[in-house]
Amino acid sequence: MNNQLHKLDTNKTEYYTPDWVWDCLSKFIPKDMVIWEAFRSEDINSCKSAEYLRELGFNVVNPLVDFFKTTFDDVGADVLISNPPFNLKKEILLRLIELDKPFLLILPNIILNTKYFIELCKKNINIQIIILPKRVDFIKQNGGESKSTFHTLVVTYKFNLNNRLIFC
Ligand SMILES: C[S@@+](CC[C@H](N)C(=O)[O-])C[C@H]1O[C@@H](n2cnc3c(N)ncnc32)[C@H](O)[C@@H]1O
Repeated sequence: MNNQLHKLDTNKTEYYTPDWVWDCLSKFIPKDMVIWEAFRSEDINSCKSAEYLRELGFNVVNPLVDFFKTTFDDVGADVLISNPPFNLKKEILLRLIELDKPFLLILPNIILNTKYFIELCKKNINIQIIILPKRVDFIKQNGGESKSTFHTLVVTYKFNLNNRLIFC
């Protein structure tokens, strides 16, 4: 892991995905592919998304590595599925599009108003969006729920969904 980058992010990014979100998204996730849950805490006892996806029957790899220094081949994965650190969303999206592998990311919906995301969507019909049924209250490191002040959506790439916009 790139410790410098990780240290910078830690206070802002240690919010974890509640199980209901994965339940909701599981029907869109391919069962026959190896999933890379790329963004995780060092504390695997509080960061349980990979474990929960395995419970749902998916084949998940989740090593503690720096995403920016790791490739799909390094971890033996076919598709990346995660809730990433939101403060790095642009860098993460741009790198993933460059790597050109399928991915699914939970992101704040403010992204729809950013120039870079609009440009990406215009150029790339492989980007499709899933709208969750309600606001996501992410889980804090101590296990408590944080009341979200913003909405999230799910950006997929090369998932071959039926529409560019899907309401979950
Ligand atoms: C918003 S949390 C989500 C954790 C988990 N994916 C989930 O859905 O519950 C994002 C995680 O990414 C980690 N992270 C930050 N920068 C990273 C990087 N460069 N590579 C890998 N993980 C990183 C943070 O430490 C944090 O645990």
